[in-house]
Amino acid sequence: MGTGLPALCLIIAFIALITNIKDPLRPDTNPMSKDPIPLKAIHHVELWVGNAKQAAYYYRQAFGFSQIAYAGLETGMRDRASYVLEQGRVRLVLSTPLSGDNGMSSHLMQHGDGVHDIAFHVDDADACFTAAVERGAKVASKPQTLNDANGSVRHAAIHTYGDTLHSFISHDDYDGPFLPGYHAAPVAGDSVGLRFVDHIVGNVELGKMDVWAGFYANVLGFSQLQHFSDKDISTEYSALMSKVMESDNGRIKFPLNEPAEGRRKSQIEEYLDFYDGAGVQHVALLTDDIIKAITNLRANGVEFLEVPDTYYDDLQERVGVIDEDMEAIRKLRILVDRDDEGYLLQLFTKPVEDRPTLFYEIIQRKGSRGFGQGNFKALFEAIERHQAERGNL
Ligand code: FE2
Repeated sequence: MGTGLPALCLIIAFIALITNIKDPLRPDTNPMSKDPIPLKAIHHVELWVGNAKQAAYYYRQAFGFSQIAYAGLETGMRDRASYVLEQGRVRLVLSTPLSGDNGMSSHLMQHGDGVHDIAFHVDDADACFTAAVERGAKVASKPQTLNDANGSVRHAAIHTYGDTLHSFISHDDYDGPFLPGYHAAPVAGDSVGLRFVDHIVGNVELGKMDVWAGFYANVLGFSQLQHFSDKDISTEYSALMSKVMESDNGRIKFPLNEPAEGRRKSQIEEYLDFYDGAGVQHVALLTDDIIKAITNLRANGVEFLEVPDTYYDDLQERVGVIDEDMEAIRKLRILVDRDDEGYLLQLFTKPVEDRPTLFYEIIQRKGSRGFGQGNFKALFEAIERHQAERGNL
């Protein structure tokens, strides 16, 4: 044996280094330009809605958010009203146009209520913007300083799929309740224990999943975490394909779905038809106590997908021993999935607006870093029952 094996390992490691051999699951990330655009976290998610005042009430009363800030006519904002809601580290901004002749109104006419901006908190908005544009991002808003009596913030934005944006926000010294122009407007909510955004899923048009996975890899330096084919995610009626993209620090995860040929209209096609284009399908919010969260959300009137009783018949067999009371899981209709690393518990709301578009996921992780692959079939069959009720299957 002698030194043969270690020497061989060294040679392989050296060849891998100089030829830059790539992990097939991470094909589009170039290690030479590691983390070109370091993203600290999701700063906030901004939704453009038809009536921000009423939407804010819904998110406070139903989801347990607290209102922290407001911008509108009273604060000198002439063209829109925005309400900032917070729970844990999740921040939602609900904005509505105050007249028919601004871009927000046509966005609303086309898409209905939905996510307009997934904003990133960064150290240097200018550097992130410049790097992103150099790497092919489309400019939405050039870097600018936003300021008020509380200090200043640098802001810039790029386009992603559909009419959705990614803002870059950097603010070292800003001391206001949210961003410049917003006034403190606290209204305490009764938290259901949502802690942070776990992932945000985008639905893109047929054939565009690889294009947008490439955008996240090549422009924002994300890696591909997982890939689900239409074989993994299919039912009698519909199929979809999904790639999960993850930021370099692992804090931001963006699965991307595209429809696949099915016998009927897939849930992704239904979304694309009613949103009139690509957009955010669901925002997953992480909790440490899903039993408490779902109990409270149900009591508050949040509507969830109806999971059939049969799902629970062999659940114990499928997922083995879990910490939670199986009866409570069944009663609350929570989904459970196990993989090599542990398990997760999740449940999906029905769409939160009249169009069958944006919905939310409540998720608790017990070691699993997956997305509930084992639940896809049961989940999609539940979605299809609702699709059929809407005449869209
Ligand atoms: Fe999800």
